[in-house]
Amino acid sequence: MAEVVIEELNRDNPFDVRETAQLLLRTFRKQYHGQATLTRMIQDIDLTRQNRVHVFIARSGGKIVGVANGGFNTPLQVSHVEEIQRHIGAGNYFLSNLAVHPDFRRRGIAKRLTARRIEHARQLGCKVAYGGTNESSEHHVARKAQFEKEGFTHLAALNGEHYYYKRLR
Ligand SMILES: CC(C)(COP(=O)(O)OP(=O)(O)OC[C@H]1O[C@@H](n2cnc3c(N)ncnc32)[C@H](O)[C@@H]1OP(=O)(O)O)[C@@H](O)C(=O)NCCC(=O)NCCS
Repeated sequence: MAEVVIEELNRDNPFDVRETAQLLLRTFRKQYHGQATLTRMIQDIDLTRQNRVHVFIARSGGKIVGVANGGFNTPLQVSHVEEIQRHIGAGNYFLSNLAVHPDFRRRGIAKRLTARRIEHARQLGCKVAYGGTNESSEHHVARKAQFEKEGFTHLAALNGEHYYYKRLR
């Protein structure tokens, strides 16, 4: 098994962007209700530039086997809930789009991608990292277990989306 390396995606490299988009499409196809196309996923990755979102990838033997986004002070997706506002104000770091190729799961890749994003959040001086998982997702059990194992606290559930957060300082 080749070594797994975690790095930031170079959005100017069309080959890496395409492979990352393919992994996202494959993983989240059902959640997009058939609306997603490779072109749209590639456009979405490009859009992350403007939203101050960094895309991290896991590479093994030249193949991209994992992807995860980390966004600094992204517009709060949950701002209407008071409790969430109290915990996650300015200086937040939003964790999203975590996907590991099915053949590479349960080898600690998601854990490493999250550790890399937390390190990035700390470098930026963020106070809180947070993310969510939807109970309708087939991956909810794995994602929930992953948040809990990594010391995240359950914050709230909104329309089936469960938010977890971790204080960074
Ligand atoms: C969720 C996901 C990212 C986990 O990736 P992974 O690389 O296999 O996770 P890790 O190996 O780092 O696992 C870390 C911990 O999470 C938990 N976990 C991971 N997969 C699990 C599963 N299928 N069932 C239960 N717990 C699971 C375990 O506690 C695990 O630690 P352990 O292996 O020491 O027991 C992967 O299953 C995936 O890509 N799922 C589809 C996409 C998704 O749901 N993304 C999250 C929403 S954005």
